[in-house]
Amino acid sequence: MNKKTVRDLAVKGLRILVRVDFNVPIANGAITDDTRIRAALPTIRYLREQGARVLLASHLGRPKGKPVAEFSLRPVRDHLETLLGERVAWIEQPLEAEAEQVVNSLGEGQVALLENVRFYPGEEKNDTELARAFARLADVYVNDAFGAAHRAHASTEGVAHVIPGVAGFLMERELKVLGAALSAPKRPFTAIIGGAKVSDKIKVIEHLLTKVDRLIIGGGMANTFLLGLGKKIGRSLVEADLAEVAKGLVESAKASGKELLLPVDVMTAPEFKNDASVRIVGVNDIADGEMALDIGPETSRLYAAAIADSRTVLWNGPMGVFEMPAFAAGTNAVARAVAAVRGTTIIGGGDSVAAVEQAGLAKRMSHISTGGGASLEFLEGRKLPGVEALQPLDGGTDDDEDKVTGGQLENA
Ligand code: 3PG
Repeated sequence: MNKKTVRDLAVKGLRILVRVDFNVPIANGAITDDTRIRAALPTIRYLREQGARVLLASHLGRPKGKPVAEFSLRPVRDHLETLLGERVAWIEQPLEAEAEQVVNSLGEGQVALLENVRFYPGEEKNDTELARAFARLADVYVNDAFGAAHRAHASTEGVAHVIPGVAGFLMERELKVLGAALSAPKRPFTAIIGGAKVSDKIKVIEHLLTKVDRLIIGGGMANTFLLGLGKKIGRSLVEADLAEVAKGLVESAKASGKELLLPVDVMTAPEFKNDASVRIVGVNDIADGEMALDIGPETSRLYAAAIADSRTVLWNGPMGVFEMPAFAAGTNAVARAVAAVRGTTIIGGGDSVAAVEQAGLAKRMSHISTGGGASLEFLEGRKLPGVEALQPLDGGTDDDEDKVTGGQLENA
């Protein structure tokens, strides 16, 4: 990582605006998964210990530039107080004069949280005036919101052009681990890409094919590959207009000597229901009325064997409809195989995180990314605006971005 981090700052007494990604699921006012809040604690704790005055900012949901009660960060403030065991001052109106008063009255090591930055229309438009208003509240900016780093918004990007910006520990770790997998993986390097739609993942697959030794395809998107290879897929979910593109990916993998694995058998059902009658069929035998809803047992065995000797594994997207127990076997088999790998195992955000958690194997992975869209864009090889805007290390240039080293985390 060629960006400065909180370690490069003397923060004692300074007002630090920390952009975090507290976009957590909330049901009936209760946080149902606080992973992202916990993931930001090392940076918050470090800044407090160093005597900084810590001002946290985040978005929650997509309120479209207006205050919407259901997207208030108040429940997050309450939860954060519990996690820190410390009062967290609340700033309901970040643009009013009282916001500045609250921040200026914070003592060293004290923390405040702004209300949802997306309550302002200027946030998503990356409005300069809004960025300046946020910047007025602080001396230095820290971006620890890896999950929102692909957004060029006022609080994720614009503000870093007004006051100096550096990376927090979570941002640093995400960039190091994902960056090291792409730039200096221990080999064999296997990527497992699943999920419903190939359209979301084409660019990731194209980029990963230049990096990996093996690419494993599963989930609903595998159907589009099977169709591209001339198989009948019945009523399975498919993006028929991308079948040729999928076929092209298979051909380019072959041409570059990369192994690309597709299902050889699938679990089918006539209906999208957990208690539907299930059939295990080879991919040449899917009947007209059937839908493929999971990879089959033979495919699970082949995938587990391909994963077993890998030294680096990157997994994004489930192998089937794992939310329904009848179609979770393939995803669980892959989760077990990844957990057993002696090397670096990275779970690339979104549904695959839920899948490893459901399988009870999250703790056995080297790294679980807090970014969904952000990890995908990073894996596509794109620059993340929230990272680009941060201060380069002395002597560094933006072109160093791909030369990430370190961050390798070996499973025992
Ligand atoms: C996420 O949940 O992936 C991030 O918080 C970004 O949210 P967004 O997709 O609403 O920008």
